[in-house]
This record gives sequence, structure tokens and C-alpha cells, in this order.
Amino acid sequence: MSATRPASDPTGRDAAAAVIDPARVTELVARERAAYAASHPASRLAFEQAAGHLLGGVPMTWMRMWPGGFPLYLATARGARLTDIDGNAFADFCLGDTGAMAGHSPEPVQDAVALRYGELGGATAMLPTSDAAWVAAELTRRFGPTHWSFTLSATDANRWALRLARQLTGRPRIAVYSYCYHGSVDESFVVATPGGPRSRPGNTGAPVDPTLTTRVCEFNDIGALEQLLGHGDVAALLMEPALTNVGIVLPEPGYLAAVRELTRAHGTLLINDETHTFSAGPGGCTRAWGLQPDMVTIGKSIGGGIPCGAYGLSAGLAARILADESADIIDTGGVGGTLAGNALSVAAMRATLEHVLTDDAFGPMTVLAGRFTAGVAEVIGELALPWSIVQLGARAEYRFCPRPPRSGGESDAAADPALDEYLHLYLANRGVLITPFHNMALMCPATTAEDVDAHTAAFAAAAAELLG
Ligand SMILES: Cc1ncc(COP(=O)(O)O)c(C=O)c1O
Repeated sequence: MSATRPASDPTGRDAAAAVIDPARVTELVARERAAYAASHPASRLAFEQAAGHLLGGVPMTWMRMWPGGFPLYLATARGARLTDIDGNAFADFCLGDTGAMAGHSPEPVQDAVALRYGELGGATAMLPTSDAAWVAAELTRRFGPTHWSFTLSATDANRWALRLARQLTGRPRIAVYSYCYHGSVDESFVVATPGGPRSRPGNTGAPVDPTLTTRVCEFNDIGALEQLLGHGDVAALLMEPALTNVGIVLPEPGYLAAVRELTRAHGTLLINDETHTFSAGPGGCTRAWGLQPDMVTIGKSIGGGIPCGAYGLSAGLAARILADESADIIDTGGVGGTLAGNALSVAAMRATLEHVLTDDAFGPMTVLAGRFTAGVAEVIGELALPWSIVQLGARAEYRFCPRPPRSGGESDAAADPALDEYLHLYLANRGVLITPFHNMALMCPATTAEDVDAHTAAFAAAAAELLG
């Protein structure tokens, strides 16, 4: 892991930093929107025609996050490249916001899916296949927890892990970090404010006020965590070892060890959500940094793009939950899903872990993310932009603040939707995609140095135009 700061920025404030004129950003966004519309007539038409029946004009309302007023429509995708229905080609650093961290449609997963679905048949039979035990053993080797269960999404992995944590501890609340994201988990939409915890702005149709279910504090503030765990009612702390959904926020030295010590001291289970931090290595941050959570959750990438998720617990916790006669985890007790652990999903997970996102795959991906980070840092430094970039293994993200943020609140304050739109559109118009959510870029095994350099060149040109 590395955080790169502009050389002239020891304090986070720099009197010599370049100043970006918001009027210039507006002008450039308008120009890039026009160029985007001109080069995507087929995508635009498809979007307009879909508006009558698709909520928000898209298959999933998140897809409205793409800049330019309409998303480009996918035609083909292989490895780190994709094309749209207008025939434009892209180097893809979004990679399905991590769902395609293995690359698009890698061959071993294609073969496993064809074998399971076509040749053998039986994508969903509610019966186990031997792939599941192989995947569970592999997840144990990588992340530590000995007993695993499968889901169809990381959201569900988190939801069910939280239910088990409440059952195991007999405690009602959970704890999260301000501006975390763990999927659409009801309890997690809460932020810390100077006036105390609040439901996160935009929290849609919340079943209950999340301040009743959840305690929240800022990342990297051990005193605040100690205070909230001191209430003695927190079943589990659900965390990413580094925040990745509000920019990347890295833990300060010693912070995660203190978190482990505190959670143990207060009888609170520690759940590492490795869905994004898996970028840190074959066993995510958990293995890379020698962490010892009680549970691990993961989803998105481990099925090579086929829906999947998993949660793992220690042998001791597994034995306790299985022996707990008041916990119905067999039928209608609130943990489970008909298609979870289906044969197709576990076949895809096995192929991905055995042949694509292998131990050896992460080194080159991390080297490329280092190249990406160094390229962006050089541009930031040369132009004296008040921005920073942070790398987490195969992932990197730039943020509009001169010093890498220390907490979710600090990082959220650095958000600039207009600059996001400008950069995303500028890059897309020059054949480079990054996630539509903030400025995250991910490398897959098929990403090349050429792809990275294409991004660096486009980013440099975009930044220079901002100041021009
Ligand atoms: C850390 C983390 N956990 C869980 C999720 C939820 O994943 P999914 O939407 O696939 O359920 C996300 C999604 O972005 C995530 O970033």
C-alpha cells in the first residue's frame, strides 16, 4: 500500500497550489458532454427508447451514475477492454466496480460456466456440488476463517453475517464507520456529525432510524471507537480494513491492531468486509496485513462476474451457531436465499480463484496500479494541483484534497461532483473508463502498461485544460 502526496504538501495546505475556476469546469463539462453525445448516438437512442419501461431508463438505477446524461450501452467485453454499441473501444478501469476484477469473461470461467450450465446442466438445484467445499477451503487458506457459507451478493454476505453476530453475542447493535459502504445493508446508512449520529442523507425508505440500530464513528479515531464500544451493546464492528467507497482511506499505523484489541476487550465481533480490499492481495488486507477478524465477508469479483458472495466464521463461532437451538438457519430464520450457493455460482468461484485471481496474479496487478499511481502523482505534482492519490494493491483513486483523507468525513468533504463529471467524461471521450462512483481505478490480470499509460496521458491533458 502506498499513499502519494504532492512533494510540496507536508501539511495538506499549500499556498502555491493551483486554483481551479468552477466556471472553467462548467464550460469544459458542457464541451465534453457535447462530444460524448456526438460519439454515442446509438447508446443515447437505446437509453431514450428504454425510458418508457425501465425505472430511470436503466436496468438498475445505479447506472444513472455514469456521466454525460446517459450510460454507454455495452456491446462486448474481454479482459480489460470493452466496446459500446457505437463501436467505441475502451480501456476499462471500472471493471464493473470490482465485479470484473478478474477481467471480463476470463476463459477458465467461461469454460466452467459452459460446463456447468451447458454440458452437465443444473445451475440451480438446491443441491451441493463438490466445487463449494473446494472454494470454502481456498477462502480459508486465503482469509483465515474456517467455515464458509455462500450468498449471491456482498450485501447479503454482510446482512447474514450481522444476523449471526447478533445471535452469537445476544447484543442488539452494530458499529460501522462514517461514510462506509457495505451494500444496501439497512443498518449501515448512518453518518457521524458534530451533532451526533444521523441517518445518511438520501437513505431511501429506511425501515427504522439507523441511529437506533447502529453506532458510528470516524475511521482512524481510536478514542471514538472505544467510546462507542464502551456501551457494551455492539454485537459486531463491520468494517473495510481500508475505506474504499468514499475515496480510499488507509488505516494509520497501529490503528487496525488497536481496533482488534478494543473489539476483543469489549466482546464485539470484528467483521472484515473484503469485497473491495481484496485488491490488496490474494487474501485481501486480512492476509496482507496479518489481521485476525472473527468473520470475513466478500462478494463481487470472486465469481469472475457471475453473481456470488461468501461469509466465513471461525471454527468456534461456527460450532456455537450450529449448536444454538434458538437460531433457525435451516429454514425461515432470516439467513438464506434460494439461489445462494447454487452450482453455477460456485463453479464460477472455483474457476476464478483456481485459475484467474491466483496468488501469482496480484503481483503484476499491483505493479500496474503503482504505475498508475506514480503517473497521476507526477501530473498532480507538476501542475501543483491540490489533489492526492492513494493506492491499495491493485486499486488506486485520486481525490480532490491535497493530503490523503484520514476519515470518511474528511474524504466526503473533498467530493466535487462537477470535477468528477469532467474527468469521467474527458476520459470516456478518449477511450478510458473509471468507476462512475468517485475516481477509482482497478487493474485486472489482463490490464496492460499501455492501458495505464493511456489513462495517464488523458488525465494529464484533462488536468492541464482545467488550468488552461
Ligand atoms: C465494501 C463493499 N461491501 C459490499 C458491497 C455490496 O456489494 P453488492 O452490491 O455486490 O452486494 C460493496 C459494493 O460496492 C462494497 O463496496
